[in-house]
Amino acid sequence: MTAKPLPMESKQLASFANTVGTPFHIYDGDAIKANAIAMKEAFSWADGFINYFAVKALPNINILRLLCKAGFGADCSSLPELRLASEAGFPAHRIMFSSNDTADEEFLEAFNLGAIINLDDITHIDDVIRVCKRLPETISFRYNPGNERTGNAIIGNPVEAKYGVTHSQLISCYERARDNGVKHFMLHTMVASNELDESYIVETARMLFSLVKEIHEKTGIRIEQVDLGGGVGIPYKPEDKPILFSSLSEKIHSLYSSMIEAEGLSPVRITFECGRCITGPFGWLVSKVRHVASKYKDYVGLDATMADLMRPALYGAYHHITVLGKENEQACHMYDVTGSLCENNDKFAVDRMLPEITNGDILVIHDTGAHGHSMGFNYNAKMRHAEYLIEDGKVLKIRRDETYEDYVRTQLDRPEEVRF
Ligand SMILES: Cc1ncc(COP(=O)(O)O)c(C=O)c1O
Repeated sequence: MTAKPLPMESKQLASFANTVGTPFHIYDGDAIKANAIAMKEAFSWADGFINYFAVKALPNINILRLLCKAGFGADCSSLPELRLASEAGFPAHRIMFSSNDTADEEFLEAFNLGAIINLDDITHIDDVIRVCKRLPETISFRYNPGNERTGNAIIGNPVEAKYGVTHSQLISCYERARDNGVKHFMLHTMVASNELDESYIVETARMLFSLVKEIHEKTGIRIEQVDLGGGVGIPYKPEDKPILFSSLSEKIHSLYSSMIEAEGLSPVRITFECGRCITGPFGWLVSKVRHVASKYKDYVGLDATMADLMRPALYGAYHHITVLGKENEQACHMYDVTGSLCENNDKFAVDRMLPEITNGDILVIHDTGAHGHSMGFNYNAKMRHAEYLIEDGKVLKIRRDETYEDYVRTQLDRPEEVRF
């Protein structure tokens, strides 16, 4: 079998799994911390550089605290995410609120907290004024480049995407913000998801730097921060090549020198809101085989379901699988690896070559540290499972399994009559 790293030695992981019970997600906090620091160091030339970690990728307070201590910010897209980031200790100026189709109470929460509000639509200027009585001193706008860029499979073509303000709306957005008292201006975009082609991210920087100039020329407004969004991909397949922060940083630095510094537009703070490339490779879903079954195809049925990891069912996403103790065996059997949901797309892998599997084998599904547990849902009353964190060499439980009581908690045993 092709190797991918495990969070600990194979035998140790099997023994841990047998002790705590499967399934569960486990994250390597020490590796996440080192990765966060590596990103910051790669961009140390950029004054005030920050990555607002996309909370949606891994919204566990223990992970957020760890990233806060490493100097990251938090990117939130809903009211509960704002509260979680605040509770995890992120100071307001390190919280970016990048939402869409935003509710009034979410604007109010972000405003009262003092987070940076990133507006997704031109009409949201009036919404914030109506709800918060004024605009904050700092505002950001999310840009949608339309035909200018092509997008990719997960995020979709910008022309078809619901996000952001168009090129023709952008100038009026900044002018209206200025006319309503805004003093500090930022620019944001998010046009790629899980992109492994570095040039795509570099082109995003080029596009935003050229907008910084255009906005300045047309309005006199200086953009103080350019947020390149998330979307830096990770090597889900063993043969995929990761984007290197050092190389990405060097190319963006070169553009910054020629398009910002040389044009007299500096300083402009460079920021990202990456989630996946920060925690993704450092999470694993560990699950046990309940049944191996032969029908028209051969199936491996796990105790985990798509409630624990949606990506394969949702996007046909590839997640590598290691069979503990069989790392050196030939992958000579083809299986569909499934969960137990009454949904035929409840599959972690289709037509996957693996060593011969028997009931009780422990399968490790790789790269589940971002958009894994957090995407889960409770259809079919399937529960989401525990999360563990390796920190300073110790394994900590950071979330328990959901229970039946959790599942029925919002149902009213005694229905309440609604008068209207
Ligand atoms: C607005 C926004 N920012 C950041 C992210 C994080 O993206 P990634 O985890 O791919 O870096 C997302 C992902 O959906 C997003 O929608």
